[in-house]
Amino acid sequence: MKRIVLTALTSLMCVYAVAQVNIIPKPVFLKAQPQQKGFSINTQTKIVIGNDSLRNAAVFFNDYLEKYLQFKLTITSVKPTENYISLGVNTGISKFADAYELGVFAQNISLTGNSNPGVFYGIQTLIQLLPTTKAATLNIPAVAVTDYPRFAYRGMHLDVSRHFFDVAFVKKYIDYLAMRKMNYFHWHLTDDHGWRIEIKKYPKLTEIGAWRNGSIIGLWPGKGNENIKYQVLPNDVKITPANAEIKTDGIRHGGYYTQEEIKDVIKYAADRYITIIPEIEMPAHSMAALAAYPEFGTEPNKPYKVAETWGMMNKYNNVFQPNDKTFSFLEDVLTEVMNLFPSKYIHIGGDEASKVWWKQSAETQKIMKEKGIKDEVALQSYFIHRIEKFVNSKGKTIIGWDEILDGGLAPNAVVMSWRGEKGGIAAAKVKQKVVMSPEEKLYLNHKQFMKEDSLAANKFLPLETVYNYEPVPAELNAEQAKYIWGAQGNLWSEYIANPAKVEYMLFPRMDALSEIQWSQKEQKNYADFLKRLKTQFKRYDLMGITYSQRYLSPVAN
Ligand code: ACM
Repeated sequence: MKRIVLTALTSLMCVYAVAQVNIIPKPVFLKAQPQQKGFSINTQTKIVIGNDSLRNAAVFFNDYLEKYLQFKLTITSVKPTENYISLGVNTGISKFADAYELGVFAQNISLTGNSNPGVFYGIQTLIQLLPTTKAATLNIPAVAVTDYPRFAYRGMHLDVSRHFFDVAFVKKYIDYLAMRKMNYFHWHLTDDHGWRIEIKKYPKLTEIGAWRNGSIIGLWPGKGNENIKYQVLPNDVKITPANAEIKTDGIRHGGYYTQEEIKDVIKYAADRYITIIPEIEMPAHSMAALAAYPEFGTEPNKPYKVAETWGMMNKYNNVFQPNDKTFSFLEDVLTEVMNLFPSKYIHIGGDEASKVWWKQSAETQKIMKEKGIKDEVALQSYFIHRIEKFVNSKGKTIIGWDEILDGGLAPNAVVMSWRGEKGGIAAAKVKQKVVMSPEEKLYLNHKQFMKEDSLAANKFLPLETVYNYEPVPAELNAEQAKYIWGAQGNLWSEYIANPAKVEYMLFPRMDALSEIQWSQKEQKNYADFLKRLKTQFKRYDLMGITYSQRYLSPVAN
């Protein structure tokens, strides 16, 4: 009888220990060893770093412990005989980039990466082995992990133009990416609704371009704002009398980042092995820039305004005039941007440029004639090629939305495929790098439930759809598939006006995204992911992250 009770107890303990090992994204190899004693962090535990370049990984771990579990450990280079967590680099442990090995034993924890990022990713796994509630000692189950990423590009985007998010929150957002082992943050810094980056040579970009009047209430085109009088063009959605009569609420929205703040954020991200890719939109989505400098638009005498309603490309004229004066301006802007951001990649937008504004501009037509450009599609291509040449001359590479394929792809560009996968497939077939970010699968601003508590972009993107997305299209052969650099989730902020809403839209769909980006394809299993997610919800609670409680009920829809 005693033996039966003991056996039952032991197996319960095993289940308990195993239940703690719920890592997202799922590691390549993980062996829980419930029969072995794990490690206990107490106030005397030391973090031992093999060299000083690992200090940032140790600090990240320590910061987490301090912030959420009220522990602060000593970081040292001197290894004690026991009760330590060692971080080291050994390039020989794996042939895969940024791999790590993590072993949790009774006496110590050993974390070895084949690169510094590898060690940092191991720290993220270690954090997920910690308890999700405060305790006097932090018990970590015995495990052996060997892990490395599937894709080299693991990105997440944030639109800070439609609504502005301050530096403190952007850093928090970067921490969220880090915790999911992502390595690129795509910072959407300019759009029709606000210019968010200080440019010294053109101060009006932020004096004027960073501010708009009026809240936008309701789904596109929005109510509660200016007296909307669109120019009616073919294919326009008809304006209703209700839309046309609405007045602004007069609330001023906006903000921007100084170059000093941007340097600070870049360093913060670099400490987390995250590269920030800045996006400067062109040739369209440029209303905020044109409000500041109308001389670069196709109607220089028009009183452009920072957009006060959600945009549609045929509704208002937000394109640059493709003349030499404009290119000089854009080159000046890009020069400041490239001097600030160490990223090899600069995103130049390229999406949704309506051709109607170029069609009806006499100056544009004259430029096209002079240069032998046959139509406005070819003009878009000319625009992007010209900017690419300039960016390449500074040793950098452009990324653009898949419209940069229209009229002929710029030869060195990376394509971000958002209108489905077609653009990405076409680019991979001509051996150009691709980031898959299809709207139907990875736009996390879309509704996650059929009925949302608050406004969200009016398409339905449930957790399972995100989870099951496969970034390498079946029609690519093995050679072409190598050009799928990775995948990215996008978060457009038209209906996201505060940090809590950002979190609500991100979690847990960003967890699902991380599994697309990091985990091996054959390891993915939605039911298993949901099981692991239960522990994540507890961690969100510990971290004060906002997410939908609906996921906790049996029928989340
Ligand atoms: C986009 O969603 N317009 C890239």
